[in-house]
Amino acid sequence: MTLARVTARVPAKINLSLSVGPLRPDGFHELVTLYQAIALFDDVTVTLKPKDERSTVEVTGEYATSVPLDESNLAYRAAMRVLEAYEDDSAFAISIRKSIPVAAGLAGGSADAAGALLAMDTLLGGQLGKNELHLLAAELGSDVPFALIGNIALGRGRGEEITPALSRGEFHWVLGISNQGLSTPAVYKESDRLREGMIVSSPRISEKLMHALLSGEPEELGKNLSNDLAPAALSLRPGLRLVLDIAAEYAALGAIVSGSGPTIAILARDEEHSLDIAVALTASGVVNNVARALGPVAGARIIESK
Ligand code: C5P
Repeated sequence: MTLARVTARVPAKINLSLSVGPLRPDGFHELVTLYQAIALFDDVTVTLKPKDERSTVEVTGEYATSVPLDESNLAYRAAMRVLEAYEDDSAFAISIRKSIPVAAGLAGGSADAAGALLAMDTLLGGQLGKNELHLLAAELGSDVPFALIGNIALGRGRGEEITPALSRGEFHWVLGISNQGLSTPAVYKESDRLREGMIVSSPRISEKLMHALLSGEPEELGKNLSNDLAPAALSLRPGLRLVLDIAAEYAALGAIVSGSGPTIAILARDEEHSLDIAVALTASGVVNNVARALGPVAGARIIESK
């Protein structure tokens, strides 16, 4: 059966730890990070169109604004890369239903790229296989390979070298979301500025964090969250400290800038506690939006094909 339209659902990520090493000659930073995929999803639908038509991207949903709709869109580029791999010159339409905030440190753009890779490969017969999809993903962005596999994984290199990690249990997160995103390169640049003159050691993963995941105890996980980009994100957005203060006031198990921010991921004890924190955060007015999400969840998957 020839498919005409396929929808992939892809999760957002948070970084439970992000250890940033020195700047490499290629402009990226060597890092070790522990990713966790959380239950906040974008749906990416790819439809094949006749060759002589124009390829298009449309974005709907709460966070639709400020996403580029031309060839610079990461999902568009992902679909093109798959077509090239198949030596197919079809046109396509991509429709993204966005629930993941943009430029938020949650890898929303990477999720859309991973969704487009998987959906387009499925449309064309699903012949690329995991390795080739991973290679295409890594070329598109540091966080794209993780969006394909989800759950919990260590990321090395610039984040694209993925090793799945073991963990037990489910974690209840509350996300403090700002309407005004932060540019990832700008945050890395600010981090370099803040660390100027310091000796930057090689990135590493905390053993305590790995043990916390294996034990499945949220208290232990909360104590061991870390992010080397937090000082830079807080330097660019001092107001984020107020979110961290509210998390502390409501006895959150931990709170951390996610990736390059500005989203703050707050770890709650259980579902009820996550509701309390979400209500307090909403009432405080220090963030524009609050979401609750469980993690970990699986990576990109096909939810509909016709
Ligand atoms: O790979 P991605 O497109 O997500 O990276 C966006 C930008 O973030 C890079 O151009 C770079 O400035 C910065 N970055 C970095 N080191 C990494 C990942 C990203 O400096 N490991």
